[in-house]
Amino acid sequence: MSAPPLPVELPRSILPAARLRGEPRLPGDKSISHRALLLAALAEGESLVSGAGDGMDVRATAAIIAALGAAVERVREDGPNVDYRVASPGPDGLHEPGGVLDCGNSGTSLRLCSGALASLPFFSILDGDGSLRSRPVARIIEPLRLMGAALYARRSDTLPPLVVIGSPRLNAIDFSTRVPSAQVKSAILLAGLRAEGRTTVREAVATRDHTERMLRSRGIDVRREPAESTGGPVAWTLDGGARLRPLDERVPADPSAAAFWLVAGAIHPDADLTLRAVGVNPTRRAAIDILVRMGARVEETALGAATAAGAATAAGAADVGEPLADLTVRSSELHAVDLGPAEVASAIDEIPILCLAATQARGKTTIRGAGELRNKESDRIAGIAGGLRALGARISVDGDDIVIEGPTRLVGSATQTLDDHRLAMTFAVAGLIASGSTTIDRAESAAVSYPGFFLELERLRA
Ligand code: S3P
Repeated sequence: MSAPPLPVELPRSILPAARLRGEPRLPGDKSISHRALLLAALAEGESLVSGAGDGMDVRATAAIIAALGAAVERVREDGPNVDYRVASPGPDGLHEPGGVLDCGNSGTSLRLCSGALASLPFFSILDGDGSLRSRPVARIIEPLRLMGAALYARRSDTLPPLVVIGSPRLNAIDFSTRVPSAQVKSAILLAGLRAEGRTTVREAVATRDHTERMLRSRGIDVRREPAESTGGPVAWTLDGGARLRPLDERVPADPSAAAFWLVAGAIHPDADLTLRAVGVNPTRRAAIDILVRMGARVEETALGAATAAGAATAAGAADVGEPLADLTVRSSELHAVDLGPAEVASAIDEIPILCLAATQARGKTTIRGAGELRNKESDRIAGIAGGLRALGARISVDGDDIVIEGPTRLVGSATQTLDDHRLAMTFAVAGLIASGSTTIDRAESAAVSYPGFFLELERLRA
């Protein structure tokens, strides 16, 4: 598999836009793209992953499954997306990689792959860039060790690189995650697929459930307790030993990427933007609902669930496939909101762009219990506060809480992205409404999740 270089995204200045119109192209959902590739590697046979996001993170997972012995082919490239064909010998045919598995900037690659590798009887090292090497791995080591895999990491087993020595005889566990994390939950469920007995993962707040839906589509009986979402604690259970079926899957457009344009449209005084076939899974749509609560004029047209071709319907039938919608956003009068820790967990990747929305909202927005943002690609609390303050926003940080008073007129200035894709895109959207010129250092980091983001941004103002 050889991937072409991503379009070079030079450091640039963003000038204010007179108007914003059009239909920004979105990459395929990053979370689903990673999972579709990894599940394809764990299913013997051929799988097609259509419309995967072609950012650096998903490319890292594609390269990892290729290093483990899956044949990965990029069959069609289409703007920010790519279709992959994956032919896998199945878990028993995968082999020890010949070198270090490079996750780049991608925490999702590192944590999801650890779960899969825990049941594969060989030695792997997962590593990545400087940012990844500062991200916590104890949360993954603890449950996978309890299941019987051997894992080691730098600094007393807290930081990558991460060594995984898998075991073909894992024990199932009943585990409560310490922080709401879909990555940790997914790693345990992926290990549980080949463990002896029933694996249960309990979470205090339901995190994104793509892994569970995708396992069901591939014939695995994943149960949820309680069956209906209450927004409260939830437990996920599966029995080890079942085999995954290969599947052709279309990846929905990424709601986290869509959030940048939803905010751009809402805060710009002359905007009308439409986003097509966006994933609106209830565990991923919090940012849309928060924006609507803030007064954003978002029109949503449901398109019905995208169910993978040939998906199993036996296993509980509900929640197989991903709901999709077209979203239109127009210039809006926003007002402040209060967000608590549960909402922060549900909108964890969209908090930076929601902070920008709050700078344009009337009143005081409070975001409480946002500490997990410090464990992302950068310390996003420091990064967003620094960048928005440089643009003239009134933002203060008190421990893990963020307070933003609005509305403020933003003034173009130099912003620091800390090499974090979501900060780079947030400051670029700010530049569309700030007076003068907003510069973004290391703007190329946007390609981690959204290749071509800056091309779209220029197209929308044209
Ligand atoms: C993801 C889960 C979240 C999110 C990340 C993608 C996933 O991370 O921030 O961008 O695909 O499971 P955590 O599990 O660390 O919260």
